[in-house]
Formats: sequence, C-alpha cells, structure tokens
Amino acid sequence: MVLCLVAGLEPEEEVTDVVCDEAKLKDGEMMEVEVGDHNVLLVRCDGVYSAISNQCTHYGAPLSKGVLSGHRVRCPWHGSCFNVKTGDLEEYPGIDCLPCHKENSESKMLTIFSVQIQGQPKRIKWMGARDQAVLHTVMLLGGGAASLMCAETLRQENYGGRIIMVSRDDLLPYDKTRLSKIMNAESESLLMRKIEFFHKYDIEVWLKKEALSIDTNKKTVTFDDGLIQCYDQILIATGCRAKSLDCPGVDLENVLMLETPEDARCIHYACVGCRTVVVGTSFVGMEVAAYMIDMASSITIIGSSELPYQKTLGPELGKVTMMMLEERGVRFYMNDAVAEVQGQNRRVKAVKLKSGITIEADLLIAGIGVNPNSEFLKGSPIRMDSKNYVIVDKYMRTNITDVYCAGDLTSFPLKMAKGQNVSIGHWQTAQAHGRIAALNMLRREVELNIVPFYWTVLLGRTIRYAGYGEGYTEMVLKGRFENMKFLALYLKDDEVVAAAGLNVEPAVSVVAERLAEGRVITKAEADVYTTWLQLE
Ligand SMILES: Cc1cc2nc3c(=O)[nH]c(=O)nc-3n(C[C@H](O)[C@H](O)[C@H](O)COP(=O)(O)OP(=O)(O)OC[C@H]3O[C@@H](n4cnc5c(N)ncnc54)[C@H](O)[C@@H]3O)c2cc1C
Ligand SMILES: *[C@@H]1O[C@H](CO)[C@@H](O)[C@H](O)[C@H]1NC(C)=O
Ligand SMILES: *[C@@H]1O[C@H](CO)[C@@H](O)[C@H](O)[C@H]1NC(C)=O
Ligand code: FES
Repeated sequence: MVLCLVAGLEPEEEVTDVVCDEAKLKDGEMMEVEVGDHNVLLVRCDGVYSAISNQCTHYGAPLSKGVLSGHRVRCPWHGSCFNVKTGDLEEYPGIDCLPCHKENSESKMLTIFSVQIQGQPKRIKWMGARDQAVLHTVMLLGGGAASLMCAETLRQENYGGRIIMVSRDDLLPYDKTRLSKIMNAESESLLMRKIEFFHKYDIEVWLKKEALSIDTNKKTVTFDDGLIQCYDQILIATGCRAKSLDCPGVDLENVLMLETPEDARCIHYACVGCRTVVVGTSFVGMEVAAYMIDMASSITIIGSSELPYQKTLGPELGKVTMMMLEERGVRFYMNDAVAEVQGQNRRVKAVKLKSGITIEADLLIAGIGVNPNSEFLKGSPIRMDSKNYVIVDKYMRTNITDVYCAGDLTSFPLKMAKGQNVSIGHWQTAQAHGRIAALNMLRREVELNIVPFYWTVLLGRTIRYAGYGEGYTEMVLKGRFENMKFLALYLKDDEVVAAAGLNVEPAVSVVAERLAEGRVITKAEADVYTTWLQLE
C-alpha cells in the first residue's frame, strides 16, 4: 500500500503526492515527507495516521529528528513538545502550535490525507476576548517570559477579565535567550509578540513603570510614578538582574553588563578591536566571550572556580569548553577574582586580580551571576527564602492568597527532583511557571511538572541540557569530548537526573522525555544507553 497526502491552500487546488510506502512507517514511528512545497511530519500512532507541520515553532528544527513518545513529539533542539494529533503545543520554549493536517479518507489501496495547508508555519492557539462585564483584574508584574505566558494562558482559558502587564523595561516581552547569542540584533526582531497581538487579545502593557511596593491586604501595588493600582489576583514575575562587581573602579565607563538588547548592542560595538576582559565563567560570560572572538583584539576570562560551569555541567565539560575557547586565543585566569578596575579618563585601562596579576584592558564585561528583583516585596508578608527568592508551592502560589509568583524569582518544588525546592534560571521553566500560575488563578488545580531544559551556544555549537543535576555524584560519558560529540549523563543515587549533550541530537530530548514520563533511568541503563539513544 502507498500513502498519499493531498495538499492545497484551497480545496480546489489540491496537490496529491505519493509520500511513502505504507510498510515503511510502522506504528509508533514518524517521518518527514514533502507535500507540494510543504514539509510535513507524518506519524503513525495506534494504527492511525496524522500529519502536522514538521517545523518546530520555536526556531524551526525538523521535528522528524526529534523524539516521538505516545501522542507527542519533542523537538531535538530545545525540547518543545507538540501533540501529533492536534499540533497543539504541550511544552515550551516554543509558544505557538503547529498547523495540523487532518486525515480525510481511506480507500482500500491508498491511505489518503487531505491536507489543508495553512500558509503560516505557526498557529496561535485559540484565545478568548475581554468581557467588559467581568469586573476582575489580574496584574502581572514584569514583562518577561513568565508574565507573557501567564497572560496568554489566561486568554486561552477564556478568562474575560482585565489583564495588566507592568514592566520597568522600555520594550515589549522579548526573547532574552538571544541576547548573548546574536548581540547586534535590533530590538524589534527579538519581540515575542508584536504590539498588535496585545491589542487584539486585550492585554494591557504598561512599560517603563517600576513597582515599588505591594499591599497584599488592600490588594494594591504602588509604582514609581505615584500610581496605585488595584488587583484581584497578581503574578509577581520580576525575575533577576545581573550582579555587579564589588570592587573599586566598577563605575568606570566601559564596565558593562548584559541585561537588555541595548546592552547587547553596546557590547557588540564596543568590543571591536579592544582588549576585552570577561568576568564570570557561567553561561552568559562564556557565551559573550565566545561571541567576541574575531571581533575583540584579545579576550581574557576571569573565573572564580577551577573550571567553567564547575557546579552546573561539571569539570569535564568545563575543561572541554575552556579548550574550545583557548584554541581560539582566549586566555583564562581561573580561581581568581577582580580586585580593582583601574581607569584613565573615566575609561578602563587595566584589571587587577586578587592574585596580583594585572591585565591591560579597554573593556570589561561582568557576568557573575544574578540577584532576585524582590526588594519591593520587603515589608510585605510574602514568604521568601534566605536568598530573597519567593517561595511558591507546586501551583505557583505564594503563602498569600491571590498572590502568585513565577520564573527566575521563585524557589519552587521540582517534582522530578523529589520535590526539592529549587531556583532555576531557564527560559522554558519561566514560561511553564507562568502557564501553571494562570491555570491555578482560574482554579484549574494543575500542578507544575516539568523537566528543565537549557541550551548554550559556543562558537556555533550548541550544548543542550535537560534535567536537574545539582548535587550529582557521578557522570557517565558517551561519545568523546575531543570529537565534539558526546552525551554526559549525571547521576545521583544511581539514577540519571540530568543530561548534557553536544552534536548528539536528539539524545538530550530522549532523556528529557523519559524523565517527563516519570520513568527512572538507572545506572545500569545509562551504561548501555548508546544504541537506545541513537548515539552512533
Ligand atoms: C543574556 C542571557 C542569556 C540567556 N540565555 C538563555 C538560554 O540560552 N536558555 C535559557 O533557557 N535561558 C537563558 N537565559 C535565562 C532566561 O532568559 C530567564 O530564565 C528568563 O528570562 C526568566 O524569565 P522571567 O519572566 O522570570 O524574568 P525576566 O525575563 O528576567 O523578566 C523580568 C521582568 O520584570 C521586570 N521588572 C523587574 N523588576 C520590576 C519592578 N520592580 N517593577 C516592574 N517590572 C520589573 C523586568 O524589567 C523584566 O521585564 C538567559 C538570560 C540572559 C540574561
Ligand atoms: C507568610 O509568610 C511570612 C514569612 O514567613 C509570614 O510572616 C506570614 O505570616 C505568612 N502569611 C500567611 C498568611 O501564611
Ligand atoms: C520546600 O519549601 C516549603 C515551604 O517553605 C516547605 O514546606 C517544604 O518542606 C520544602 N520542601 C523540601 C523538600 O525541602
Ligand atoms: S527549535 Fe524546537 S525547541 Fe527550539
């Protein structure tokens, strides 16, 4: 038997293409097929065929190279999940659904799909409208990933009240993950949604307004322009900000940090031909340093640990990434810290380290971690931990009724880490938080259950990471570091808790999907993983 897909923008302009021999697609399998000009993912699941667009709505990865598990496919690049029957998004970081091509008819000899191809590669999930009769206001503090997904979920769930998103940014929600990867991007190109979207779905966005305090009894927030605004329910999603260096000379010009698209452009143009020092060897510092290779005249990285990403990816990966950058002329001073930034005419001239070394420099970029934006909550009864992260439960509720918190600012129970309270600065995690908060504002009682997913780009190579590896006690390595093709599995109590991979797609997504299903990956399994993970 032969499988055919029929495609057409209008029913009368259908194209019929023989796409595959039916015997080629077994149950539980998927394949990429071309129908007309369209790249379609054909899936067979429980004997039933379905067809959706093959292009991930996040950054366009081919889903056919991802992981099929039951009725959903997980993207090989950053872990977005889509329902293969409906095309609906099930996991972030993608934010839109896929066009879904409905099965139409089946003859004896042919299985035929009628594919109503939509010109758009993405489909925005259905959203309800504002209902003026509903006198209820949800306020979202912060204009980041968590707030945006909360707003969208509220409308998707047909919430008819008023939604006000307030941010101290001067920009609509944008893709922050790109700041350290495409540093000269125009702000407009980074926006998650255009202004028309907010108008259409009646989501008010107030920019350049900073919350100064909250009164949870009166249910009001006071802003820096004197405005006092009431809410019925509130989401606090003010995230974290970059920590500044604490030493003499940090107020010199050319001591920069990366927080906004403007900062990114500023670094992009400032580094050209300059002797540049980057302080910090976590994700942002390493990405920025790698980005500046070929632009700066020299790059020196100062790290406080022995190797980059020591606590997160581990010393082995730290060593490899360090060598990747060293090969390109980057110098590292590890186990060190900045003692003083020396200047001349208000500009950086040299950086003096605690060890006594002095490095001549024209530009210094600090990426030494973050602090939570929770100062304005002091004096409120909202419970925070010792580091001033807001404590929430699995419904994203704080200890105060009608006050929710989401994103980087939270300390939340991570189910896959046995309910441990954690703070995780991942884009996808913040998005999921926003969604769960919205559902629980609407009393849907949906628990947060995610597998954290992160990625970092160095010299055009992407390291993908899934799970929660903090406190891991053992690492099992598949592949070879020196070949730039490997999968590292992190174990704790003889179970895989996280994975990091380079050039082994979709291995990290395979692990993520397994963990998402709540299935344990034992040490014994990890050892014989190579074939199962499609590593070779
Ligand atoms: C350079 C860089 C690169 C990154 N790369 C990646 C990556 O590759 N992959 C990944 O998974 N994650 C990455 N991250 C992390 C990711 O961006 C964050 O996890 C995510 O943005 C958190 O979302 P959020 O909504 O919690 O907070 P944010 O996105 O930080 O948003 C907080 C918002 O609150 C506003 N705000 C703060 N205080 C106030 C106040 N008092 N009143 C009003 N508004 C306020 C801010 O202006 C901002 O709009 C990166 C982060 C940075 C900085
Ligand atoms: C919330 O937590 C704070 C800080 O622990 C505490 O002072 C306050 O009484 C708590 N409020 C409620 C309603 O539980
Ligand atoms: C997480 O925090 C909550 C609230 O402070 C606390 O009740 C709970 O015991 C903590 N859970 C763990 C596993 O530490
Ligand atoms: S391209 Fe699919 S999740 Fe990013």
